[in-house]
Amino acid sequence: MPTKPELALDPVLEVEDLKIHFALRGSGFARLLGRDTGTVRAVDGVNLDLERGEVLGLVGESGSGKTTLGRAMLGLVAATSGSIHHRPGDGSPDTDIAALRGKALRQRRTRLQMVFQDPHAALNPSMDIETAVGHPLVIHKRASGDELRARVVSALERVGLVPAEQFLSKYPSDLSGGQKQRAVIARAIILDPEVLIADEPVSMLDMSVRAKILQLMLDLKDDLGLTYVYITHDLATAKFFCDRVAIMYLGKVVEIGPTAEIFAHPRHPYTQALLKAIPDVDPNKAMPRDLPRGEIPDAARPPRGCSFHPRCPLARADCGWEPRDLKALVEEHWTRVPVADYEREHALVGGLADLDHSENRAVVKPHGGTVADLDALFDRIRTENAAEPLWQGVTSITATEDGLVFEFAPAAEVPLRPSGPTEVACVLYPPDPS
Ligand SMILES: Nc1ncnc2c1ncn2[C@@H]1O[C@H](COP(=O)(O)OP(=O)(O)OP(=O)(O)O)[C@@H](O)[C@H]1O
Ligand code: SF4
Ligand SMILES: [Mg+2]
Repeated sequence: MPTKPELALDPVLEVEDLKIHFALRGSGFARLLGRDTGTVRAVDGVNLDLERGEVLGLVGESGSGKTTLGRAMLGLVAATSGSIHHRPGDGSPDTDIAALRGKALRQRRTRLQMVFQDPHAALNPSMDIETAVGHPLVIHKRASGDELRARVVSALERVGLVPAEQFLSKYPSDLSGGQKQRAVIARAIILDPEVLIADEPVSMLDMSVRAKILQLMLDLKDDLGLTYVYITHDLATAKFFCDRVAIMYLGKVVEIGPTAEIFAHPRHPYTQALLKAIPDVDPNKAMPRDLPRGEIPDAARPPRGCSFHPRCPLARADCGWEPRDLKALVEEHWTRVPVADYEREHALVGGLADLDHSENRAVVKPHGGTVADLDALFDRIRTENAAEPLWQGVTSITATEDGLVFEFAPAAEVPLRPSGPTEVACVLYPPDPS
């Protein structure tokens, strides 16, 4: 187990209120009609500092925005808003990577490199290892001839591809998965970067070589004075590898802090659920794809208030309950009732379109019956599901001439706030009174 140094605050990257929203293309027909086809909020207001010399883990379920955030740190994906300040250690000027374009961005990217998940795809099968690893030096006109070869040999030696001369003329297909990832790492360090962003760098490798590659990365970090962002699903390697961990959920950091603290005293209910699902942090288990209470929601339509509220076992009235949650509850109810009941109820509520939104008020109109019938139906569903936390967020249900009116409690703000040595975005951790 590596020792984890106390960090003096000296951020190499400062991410401020970063948002990356992708426009959904939708069908050609929808675009022809000029319909809004929506946006995916892949990164939705992230603030974090990457301290020089640390390993910062970005951990979260599939689709939480880890890769998009990592790629944005290199300027590989355009920011919708916000900034990513790079403070180089070599005396060159501070720059907002999110605002850089063209040559300036390419130059800056020599200081920040990425190691991808799939080493097979990262290496051109028709390029020998000498050409592939030396490519960045050629592109940036940093070396040629004998010096180029010497630097490639040195990089290969550093990553343990020895004797290096024997690897120069090999092709990716001659290498094992672990050797390929070593070659990818050699290519990433050859320009002497200060930050490596490693996106699931060992998840496609055999179990037997994962620890070796991670140990190599730790050795390189010490030898070359690197800083890492380590993107992973895998809590076990995050625990072993990272100084700090940022837990991401639907484009937001919901908890960030020292690794030991996050694992010993997880505060955010999402972090708690992740860790509880893997009690011993078994090295053979990756993050569970399904936590209790359903799947990760659609990033194009994130839940109101705290995005975790539909799955949160500790949710309160002010966590952002909305008509869509009631829709989901009725749909779940329909999976349990006889078909004849389902058909009658479905006809009465008109397919639940009246609940398919995120406002704090919904009017469900009776489609095949009366408001009193609707009232009786929702009363039954409520009694059957009395323990559902959703009801805490429903402040009133009123039968009116228009239909059955549901009012929902206002959603509290849930920014990241300090809590002990960590920061947490959850209403259960209010601001310090001090
Ligand atoms: N180029 C794109 N266009 C549209 N949507 C995208 C694009 N890239 C990512 N997304 C969406 O943004 C969200 C975040 O994706 P991202 O790949 O960053 O997640 P991730 O945490 O890395 O997931 P995984 O663990 O599966 O790699 C997802 O909903 C994804 O579908
Ligand atoms: S704010 Fe906290 S308690 Fe509320 S839903 Fe989110 S994680 Fe759960
Ligand atoms: Mg990813």
